[in-house]
Amino acid sequence: MAQPDTRSDAAPLGVDPDWWRQAVVYQVYPRSFADATGDGIGDIPGVTSRVGYLRELGVDAVWLSPFYPSALADGGYDVDDYRNVDPRLGTLDDFDAMVTALHDAGIRVIVDIVPNHSSNRHVWFQEALASPKGSRARDRYVFRDGLGENGELPPSDWQSVFGGPAWEPVGDGQWYLHIFATEQPDLNWADREVRDDFLHTLRFWSDRGVDGFRVDVAHGLAKGLPEVLPSAAELAEIEKLADGTHALWDRDEVHEIYAEWRAVFDEYTPPRTAVAEAWVAASRRARYASADGLGQAFNFDLLEADFDAAQFRDIITFNLEQAAASGSSSTWVLSNHDVVRHATRYGLPARGTGPDRDTVKSGTAWLLSGGTAPVLDEAGGLRKAHAATLVLLGLPGSAYLYQGEELGLQEVADIPAEERQDPTFFRTDGGEIGRDGCRVPIPWTTSGPSFGFGAGGSHLPQPAGFGASSVEAEEGDPASTLSLYRRALALRHELQGAETLEWIDGDGPDVLAFRRPDGWLIVANMGETSIPLPAGEVLLASDPVDGAELPPATTVWMRAAG
Ligand code: NOJ
Repeated sequence: MAQPDTRSDAAPLGVDPDWWRQAVVYQVYPRSFADATGDGIGDIPGVTSRVGYLRELGVDAVWLSPFYPSALADGGYDVDDYRNVDPRLGTLDDFDAMVTALHDAGIRVIVDIVPNHSSNRHVWFQEALASPKGSRARDRYVFRDGLGENGELPPSDWQSVFGGPAWEPVGDGQWYLHIFATEQPDLNWADREVRDDFLHTLRFWSDRGVDGFRVDVAHGLAKGLPEVLPSAAELAEIEKLADGTHALWDRDEVHEIYAEWRAVFDEYTPPRTAVAEAWVAASRRARYASADGLGQAFNFDLLEADFDAAQFRDIITFNLEQAAASGSSSTWVLSNHDVVRHATRYGLPARGTGPDRDTVKSGTAWLLSGGTAPVLDEAGGLRKAHAATLVLLGLPGSAYLYQGEELGLQEVADIPAEERQDPTFFRTDGGEIGRDGCRVPIPWTTSGPSFGFGAGGSHLPQPAGFGASSVEAEEGDPASTLSLYRRALALRHELQGAETLEWIDGDGPDVLAFRRPDGWLIVANMGETSIPLPAGEVLLASDPVDGAELPPATTVWMRAAG
């Protein structure tokens, strides 16, 4: 196993308050990244052991998905204790050692915070269950009397995001709300103690050197539940209004919470940062990115788009305008732990054109992954993924990468039912296959147990051919996806200047071309036929470019002639 990086030429972190604006942030899904203990589950010492790899890759920050104590009812997004490390993943000392190693390598640390719901094993929820109706303990969650003579019916017909009812009875006529899994009771953010406890948690991790937070379900915290609850159908109509009055999502009051968080972030030098995961109408996203609030919000628009120049251009234009309006920088994402990997997405028929592209759903709320489709063109998907990634990395703003995309990993579609973990799968009786396919542990070596993930097995099955996409296989190959990412990140650091771009027109509807400061040109041929290569020096190409032509599904970074 590689040792922590100790080279002394690592960039010092400094106190630039704007470090995040154009950062490349690499998402680590800890349970599937590197397993130092050999128990089949990735852990914090595993992350530390790979700091050299991350440094070589050239990322500015790492975002860790939850590593807190959890029964893993939802991959760790069911948190038992917000201020601790899951013993299977390590200790607080291991966490501190990881932060030090990352910081020494010039890499910042962002942690996931899950404020909408705790787990049902959280001490507060256990206390609520043991306490009577109307008690203080129940106030920290969203309890309601059931309907019917003895409260035997749910308070409303609402469905959870993962499928199945959103209310669970507790046996005394009361029910609690869980917008996600049954094991994820929603917290009551109208409660002062809940608010204060999260301020405590923000300080707890900030004091340990954490540089920022990724805020899970940031649009869900404030709830407005009237005496008579609207039906699911009524809620769906209210959602379309996108006016801040929905009972569950994106209420205006949520920003009062984030103003309090901002005051905590600003107690530190540099101020701690935050990025909101907020699945809201695009027009309302900027509120979450406000400098008085979280400061940045994810834009998932590219992740929902087809490989299509017109869609990309509209999305980029809109989001740069939004970022300018809020004073934030834009966030670009093609893959994360909730969606089908983009190398696979682009190998499936485009939305609306194929029989089963629909397994990758687009929607205002969620992308739940599919996987098997009648037609999957892996090589074509990977080629488009390379091209789209060079567009993403050429844009002003920050880029969020998901572990394994730098290896060109495909979604693992054929996980047997008995090995699946995602609650989506179980709550829909297998109707939605869920998100396990993008969470399969990373292959580090060409062979060996779990392909170098650890000395033991792998908590989700890895496909037999995974070794061909391992770090070991790719790092010596100049034509590999890993080599492309390394070159792209190194060049981006050299080229990235002001947060502006200028569109270049005239190459036809399938070409996306823009100029960045200092004569850096990005040209993507997103069509199906070659086009003439613009004049200038090719700095980097997503796939080989020979002669005077830019082949289909290829992006080049160029320096303009003259
Ligand atoms: C969003 C997270 O990205 C996802 O993985 C999780 O299941 C839900 N929030 C619920 O916490």
